[in-house]
Amino acid sequence: MSIPDGALVVDEAGVVAWCGRFADLPDALRTADVRDHRPGFLLPGFVDTHVHFPQTFSYDAYGGEQLLEWLDRCIFPAEARLRDPEFAELAAGAFCDRRIAAGTTSAMVFGSAFPDAQDALFRETRRRGLRIVSGRGIQTDGPEAASALVTSEDDALALTRDEIDRWHAVDTGDPATARLQVAVVPRFALSVTSRTLRGLGELYDDVRGRGVYFHTHLSENDRPGTGEIAQTTQKFGCRRYLDAYDGRFLPDSALGGASLLGRRSIFAHAVHCSDGELARLAATGSSIAHCPTSQQFLGSGTMPWRRTARSGVTIAIGTDVGGGDEWLIPQVLADAYKVHMSEPAAVALHPAQLLFSGTLAGARALDQESRIGNFDVGKDADFVVVDPSRWPPLDAALDYGIRSSDAELARDQTLFTLLTAMREPAIAEVYVAGSLVA
Ligand code: GUN
Ligand code: ZN
Repeated sequence: MSIPDGALVVDEAGVVAWCGRFADLPDALRTADVRDHRPGFLLPGFVDTHVHFPQTFSYDAYGGEQLLEWLDRCIFPAEARLRDPEFAELAAGAFCDRRIAAGTTSAMVFGSAFPDAQDALFRETRRRGLRIVSGRGIQTDGPEAASALVTSEDDALALTRDEIDRWHAVDTGDPATARLQVAVVPRFALSVTSRTLRGLGELYDDVRGRGVYFHTHLSENDRPGTGEIAQTTQKFGCRRYLDAYDGRFLPDSALGGASLLGRRSIFAHAVHCSDGELARLAATGSSIAHCPTSQQFLGSGTMPWRRTARSGVTIAIGTDVGGGDEWLIPQVLADAYKVHMSEPAAVALHPAQLLFSGTLAGARALDQESRIGNFDVGKDADFVVVDPSRWPPLDAALDYGIRSSDAELARDQTLFTLLTAMREPAIAEVYVAGSLVA
């Protein structure tokens, strides 16, 4: 919905009390303080469902090429630097700065292997008032380049449990209201053993009821024979990649443990899934973090939009920094538009679909649709104030771009311009639950 000259009323608890045309504001609300942002725009806060904290400084890393070589050459060495708590502290501050500048009020954050670094991330996120779900990146297997990030299988389980106990919903004591929440995060199937997958299944069964999340990568690189998908099915002997996370990590996809899929499970990429894998994701209420910016950078291919959407799985958006070189969700949405327009089954995503993907779909993927994601009365008031005068290319496109004589199409054209021509400087203010974050 677009409300020209609209008003968003936020109560003292930071909850949306009313949203509509300013002219229709009920008398009882007219006594409220008025902050006039005209001719700007209010949008729901952006939701980034896949971003890597220990890659805060690794976007735009040259020299890696596709996924597995990029991990070895650029990412594992960069992530090992967070072993130093002082550096991790600095990274946590920078990570929160980038999120606020980009208007990302909620995020599923792929964490560091190092508990001190995760502590720094949660502390800083809490201090800045942002929402986060995060968990330490679990690795119990991998190449020599990853050795600094690998722990024993027992330590991996113990550290994950410890992080859940120390950080999950600690800010309010209730996952229904908490801004800080924890996820179980194996890096990907190649970075863990089948014994670890079995242990994580048991652990996750134990903590699901407390609202703990699950997050990992799925079906990103399909280079024949040597890519991520080929190596995964070879390593576990499973018939399809998703089975490794679905308890079927024994040869021929035999059941070896509990599934890690569910309403609070988010899988990054899912570029090359079969119809059967997509159906299983949808049936379990699992979600996909679609990361087209990263998929271009790492040559991972294009997630088939129509086939994926038709499966019924929730498709949310992720920057995947540092595989992605953009922190701004609207820029990732602009990339989504371009890559899906370039698919053989070309689709021109509607501007409302783009906005939905970067906001309410993210809230749904986080199983927080009843709390955040749009301006429904009763939700927490998470929003960004966009001031086009702060970014002249946006201002000019809004003022002088072609607009249809059809009012609905003109509205959609304005939204498209707003999303695709926006850059960080245009984001003047960012609010979480009605409070300005800085
Ligand atoms: N697969 C395993 N680790 C990673 C990572 O750090 N980034 C991306 N894009 N894919 C991965
Ligand atoms: Zn990633």
